[in-house]
Amino acid sequence: MEILHPNDTLTRIEINSPQRYLLLPIEESQPEVQVRLVGDRPEDTWLDIRLAVDSIDYYVPLALPEGKSPATVEIIGLDRTAISYEKIQLADTFDTSAKDYYRPAYHHSPTYGWMNDPNGMIYKDGVYHLYYQYNPYGLKWGNMYWGHSSSRDLIHWEHHDLALARDTLGHIFSGNAILDKQGTAGFGKDAILAYYTAHNTHAGKQWQAQCLAYSLDNGKTFTKYAGNPILTPFDGVSDFRDPKVFWYAPEKSWYMIVSADKEMRFYRSQDLKKWDYVSAFGEGYGARPNQFECPDFFQLTDETTGKEKWVMIVNINPGCAFGGSATEYFVGTFDGKEFVPETAPEIAHWLDFGKDHYALVTFHNTGARTIGIPWVSNWQYANVTPFKQTRGMNGLPRDLFLFTKDGTSYVGAHPSKEVEALRKE
Ligand code: FRU
Repeated sequence: MEILHPNDTLTRIEINSPQRYLLLPIEESQPEVQVRLVGDRPEDTWLDIRLAVDSIDYYVPLALPEGKSPATVEIIGLDRTAISYEKIQLADTFDTSAKDYYRPAYHHSPTYGWMNDPNGMIYKDGVYHLYYQYNPYGLKWGNMYWGHSSSRDLIHWEHHDLALARDTLGHIFSGNAILDKQGTAGFGKDAILAYYTAHNTHAGKQWQAQCLAYSLDNGKTFTKYAGNPILTPFDGVSDFRDPKVFWYAPEKSWYMIVSADKEMRFYRSQDLKKWDYVSAFGEGYGARPNQFECPDFFQLTDETTGKEKWVMIVNINPGCAFGGSATEYFVGTFDGKEFVPETAPEIAHWLDFGKDHYALVTFHNTGARTIGIPWVSNWQYANVTPFKQTRGMNGLPRDLFLFTKDGTSYVGAHPSKEVEALRKE
């Protein structure tokens, strides 16, 4: 490995016989510098990494392309005297055994790195897939990828390779996944389609658009659709993210809800790629100020009255009654054109009164069950919780249900029955 400094800002690391990883030393209190594996794949883009300058908090692995020799890594903005240059290492393994005192014992968390929202949750062939907002290069938010874990019982999770990498279009923000049983989108029967937001900034202005990727190997690897982005906002709104796609039988159509600043927008599609605007809901509704994020939309049968109703999950940040971010919901009717809530605009219903309950969404394809999983944190302090190996965990799975009290419909949450397997004498 040879470290060259062609000028004051650029460093080039030439690796003549690459191993699997380049281990990067991190110092959390340092500003981000830019790091790039030189190559022509879309994911060979600049990453933002807090490389160590004075001392090392921990290492993160940068995967080197297999069988490619030599490999080149470029760094912009790291002082020549930084300790990183002495301590950077090549390795074939990276130790992910639990070393952190605070590492949760049974709540799902990645083996290292930062995690926020659950994404693309889908049940297929007896396996629950949980993708999530993931920064593999540090314990703070940044470099959004989709990480991936799976489970047969919602309790014991297996960790997999990264599912979607940040690329030249942007960070991979939140979204959902569906099973395309008929192959409607043209990628084959039984493809898993992942809908996500590409997030970037151009000339200081935030840009967000919806994208599509498909998996033909049961959610292990994804190919990004060549026609991305598939949906941009008609009015140029800069907060336009977190797509949720669902099937609406009466119209024999797929629908997508996307959060757009302080409202949710509905779109409709026949081919799962081209989306037409239908309507919007939310402006002036619920707690305020209320940036809408991470929508979900599903039907539940009211346990008290036996009536079927639509539930819209709206994760909001900020604006939560108990500070920061939380999960709000609206119960109402949907006719394929408009969602009409039963509650007055000023009413806010919370799915959970804990401060660490955000970005809850539900699994696709679970039949009569509606199973949700939240991220256990709050944007007020998510980046500073005292974790040293992996910052971010999920709440236990919960089955959502609907009931009526004093003439008002509420959504309730029971811990899923699978949680009982954790009980001991
Ligand atoms: C919610 C959120 C989403 C966004 C993601 C970015 O926590 O802000 O709206 O897609 O996190 O990581």
